[in-house]
Amino acid sequence: MSLSRRDLLALAAAFPGFSGLAHAVVPPRAAPPLPHAPAPDDEAAWERVAAEFVIQGIHLNTGTVGASPLPVLEATIQHMRAFERMIGQESVDVPAVHKELETFLGAWPGSIAIVRNTTEAMSIVANGLELQSGDEILATTHEHVGGRSAWDLLASRRGVVLKLFAPPLDPSDDGELLAAWQRAVTSRTKVLMISEVLFTTGMIQPAAALVRWARTRGIITVIDGAHPPGMLVNDLRALDADYYCTSTHKWLLAPKGTGLLIVHPERIATTWPLVASGDWNNPTIARFEHVGTSNDSLVAGLRAAVAFQNGIGRPAIEQRTRALATRLHDALGENARVRMVSPRRAASRSAMVSFTMDGITATALQGYLGRERIRTRRIAEYGNEYLRLSTHVYILPRDLDRTVALLRDAPRA
Ligand SMILES: Cc1ncc(COP(=O)(O)O)c(C=O)c1O
Repeated sequence: MSLSRRDLLALAAAFPGFSGLAHAVVPPRAAPPLPHAPAPDDEAAWERVAAEFVIQGIHLNTGTVGASPLPVLEATIQHMRAFERMIGQESVDVPAVHKELETFLGAWPGSIAIVRNTTEAMSIVANGLELQSGDEILATTHEHVGGRSAWDLLASRRGVVLKLFAPPLDPSDDGELLAAWQRAVTSRTKVLMISEVLFTTGMIQPAAALVRWARTRGIITVIDGAHPPGMLVNDLRALDADYYCTSTHKWLLAPKGTGLLIVHPERIATTWPLVASGDWNNPTIARFEHVGTSNDSLVAGLRAAVAFQNGIGRPAIEQRTRALATRLHDALGENARVRMVSPRRAASRSAMVSFTMDGITATALQGYLGRERIRTRRIAEYGNEYLRLSTHVYILPRDLDRTVALLRDAPRA
């Protein structure tokens, strides 16, 4: 593709660091400060936040991949440009990034490895444990392939058993979910693999209570935390799980291909790394992160993503994104054709809302909204046919109103 001078000027205006005209590395653009800790209904403040994104249309699929704001694009692109000067001065202060991530997630010092995504983190954990044929891994019938496939592979290769049970999807309280997990455990259960937020319905599971209970039984806990960081306020020390796997390119809005593995300090030295380099035998978190040459520009962008969310405030983001989801949930409830599959109980609901609609498949519905530049996720796994909508900070009430209005007029197909 060749860009015209006009295109280049437009790009230069949007991303100074990306300028095709300037050869020097230019300083980041001066943007008005972001609002800090805006109330969930402070629409002027959230408009200001939404203005930081280059999204075209309405992006209701953060659950698959988040949109990065301008400061993240700039930090990534600036680093990439600067690095390519090949003067060896473009290091990222990775220890500082680790510290900032630890504070962001409430994680133990020295417990975070930067990896590519949840899928990779989960593969490290599954292959790093000493599991024997017949050992059981317990999970639900709502696991994403990125969370479950490493265990499926181990089942084929080593004879471990991935045991799945159907969780209650509209629980009246957390105790109901806890009891369902407890009923499914057997004397051979060695691992609970818990999706903190189900990708299918957005339901929040009581991960902390499950971890506490598993500890009393000597069962290892592995959390598929693909969604919470950047959506819910995490406190990983309080959660106390053995392993936590996440993708920062979803709700944390970091560059694509960034994720984290957080390992409980007591587990680091005894968990085998998956890819070996110079630190493979060191009893530190570096054994999981040192995997050969990687892309520091993504780490620069990840750092900017953490700063972006800290600038707004993590509780404010959780309150806003969940309030938007509740607004959407309630508005869809007024549509007689909609059957909600997300929980009715607000405390179990995250910032993802899933539903089916009478008279139209999710495939057709996704196509219908897609033609209006509204991006959604169709959940077709395990025979389901849901449409899932994610409500991150770049979604404004008018976007939800437009989506709800279109759904009111959805054809039968
Ligand atoms: C619950 C869950 N786990 C794992 C994944 C895989 O994430 P990634 O592709 O970033 O590894 C996803 C992706 O949507 C997910 O929703």
